[in-house]
This record gives sequence, structure tokens and C-alpha cells, in this order.
Amino acid sequence: MQYVHYSVMQNEVLSYLDPGDREALMVDCTLGEGGHSNLFLRKYPNLKVIGLDRDSRIMEKARNRLSGFGDRFEARNIWFDGFWKDYDGPAVDFVLFDLGISVFHYEESGRGFSFKRQEKLDMRLDVNGELDASDVVNDYDEVSLADLIFRYGEERYSRRIAAAICNYRQTKRIEYTNELADIVWNAVPNEYRHRRIHPATKTFQALRIEVNGELDRIVPALEGAVKALKPGGRIAVITFHSLEDRPVKWFFKDHENILEILTKKPLEPTEEECEMNPPSRSAKLRVVEKLEKERDPARKRNKYRDEGY
Ligand SMILES: C[S@@+](CC[C@H](N)C(=O)[O-])C[C@H]1O[C@@H](n2cnc3c(N)ncnc32)[C@H](O)[C@@H]1O
Repeated sequence: MQYVHYSVMQNEVLSYLDPGDREALMVDCTLGEGGHSNLFLRKYPNLKVIGLDRDSRIMEKARNRLSGFGDRFEARNIWFDGFWKDYDGPAVDFVLFDLGISVFHYEESGRGFSFKRQEKLDMRLDVNGELDASDVVNDYDEVSLADLIFRYGEERYSRRIAAAICNYRQTKRIEYTNELADIVWNAVPNEYRHRRIHPATKTFQALRIEVNGELDRIVPALEGAVKALKPGGRIAVITFHSLEDRPVKWFFKDHENILEILTKKPLEPTEEECEMNPPSRSAKLRVVEKLEKERDPARKRNKYRDEGY
């Protein structure tokens, strides 16, 4: 089987979440093809990993890849916020989030994540989910569409794009990725069409985030993960854009009474990694450690004041 996703910041996550030779439990909340989990299981012989992914197809790829590790690896097909909400298992040592979607989704899933291929507009990670991308583009009213393209895509031409979508769909439902990419292309000014990224990139990102409720799942999952973490245990989060990074950063700052922030500034991939895998360029890694004992709240207030937050 071929694995198409390159796991980002491998050395950094392996060294921040390092159990050495001791027995430990890690939850890989975004298993994907199992790239990170594979590295951890190979490097740390007494580590057990529970891997979560809402996409059953990619999860099967990971399960296949990691089958040689026997009962040291377990896969669960679940949203990560849902997993932590009901978690009543043993306290965990490490939690890893590598947010977003995988190269598999763009290249192999056939679910319309990429405007580079002609595919049905779907974009669901959960193939049984009720809402897909064609429902959003065809059924949302113009204001809601413009708002979501602006909010989740940070797209400056969101209103023009929403108007063009609504205009087009008066004659026919928008079913395919290339139809939508053409609508966006025609809606934006000429100079916007020839920049570094295709003009439909941000609209596609916004739809994917909406369909999968991606941003709304982050904080509830972090809350559950912190509760389940052992004192001294660590959480590492890799994000790829500011919409993902901001809630993580603020969550960690808001919980400084129980968490030590180990990466005052988020870590970024080395130049070498960016050259080898250009999509790594936008990655940011934040890591926290759960304190043995809750900090005095007055100390937290002083810390905010002293560090000028
Ligand atoms: C960036 S990929 C992970 C790649 C993986 N770390 C590797 O090295 O192969 C993110 C994965 O998380 C899954 N995913 C994203 N959000 C999720 C969520 N809220 N709950 C469960 N799975 C999620 C996606 O389906 C995708 O496979």
C-alpha cells in the first residue's frame, strides 16, 4: 500500500513526547495514514497508541500499516471531541493533534477536497455525515455563504464569490469541484487570478471547515484531553493556519493554572523540512505539560502582567 502523506515536524514531536523506555499511553487524535503513530511505535518500545480518525477509509490505511504492532496499537473511527467527551479510560501520558486533512484527502479520497480534479463536491470526513459541500453551496443563502467564506477562508472577495455562486445556481445545481472553481475564478478580479495560490483555495478551505465543523471541535477536545492527562503528561498540537492556531494558543494561555507552556513561541519546521515538503511551511507546533499541582491563581495574574499579555 502506498502512503501519500508526509508527517510534519517529526523530530520535534518525537522529542517533546518522549516516554523513553517506560510504559506509556498516547492518543494520536488525528491518525491519518498513521505516519506519526508509526514513528512513535517504532521508536518507543513500551508505548501504546490509540489512534483516532473520523474518516474510516484513511483509518483503514493506518490500521493496515500499523498491524505489526499488535495490541500496542488500536484505531477508533470517531471525531476527536466525541472521543474525549465520553473518555473514561486510564489517564494518558501524551496527546497529539496534527490538525486539518491529509494529502490522502486531496489526492486519493475522490471526495472533492481539491479543485485540481473533477470530483463531486462532498468534502465529508464522515462519509455518513448529513451535510456535504454541495448542500452548503446549493442551499445556504447568500449572506450565510459570504459569511462562512469570509470567516473560514479569510477570503477578501467572499461577497462577490457568494453572489456568483447564487447567480449560477439559479440555472443549475453546482455538483462538481471544477464548476465551483470556475465560478470563483470568474467572480474575482483579474489580478487576483494570478497570485501564488489559486483563487478558489480559500473558498474550498472554508467549505471543508464548515462541512466537518473543524474549528468547533478543537477547544472541547483540548478540554477533554487536559482532564484525561496525567500530571507531567504532555499535549502537542500542530496547526496549519491562524484559524486553527488561535483557539489553541488562547486555550493554553487560559489554562496556565494547570498547564506549563513549553513552547513560548510556537515551533516551526526547519528550512530543510520546508524544502523537502513545501506544505510544512505553514505548520506551527505548540506543546504544554500538565502541572503536578494547580498554580495559585494570583501567580497567573502576575504572570500575565509581567509577560505583557
Ligand atoms: C493532517 S492529517 C494527520 C496525518 C498524520 N499525523 C500522519 O502523520 O499521517 C489529519 C487527520 O485527522 C483527521 N481529522 C481531522 N479532524 C478530525 C476530528 N475532529 N476528529 C477525528 N479525526 C479528524 C483527518 O481525517 C485526517 O486524516
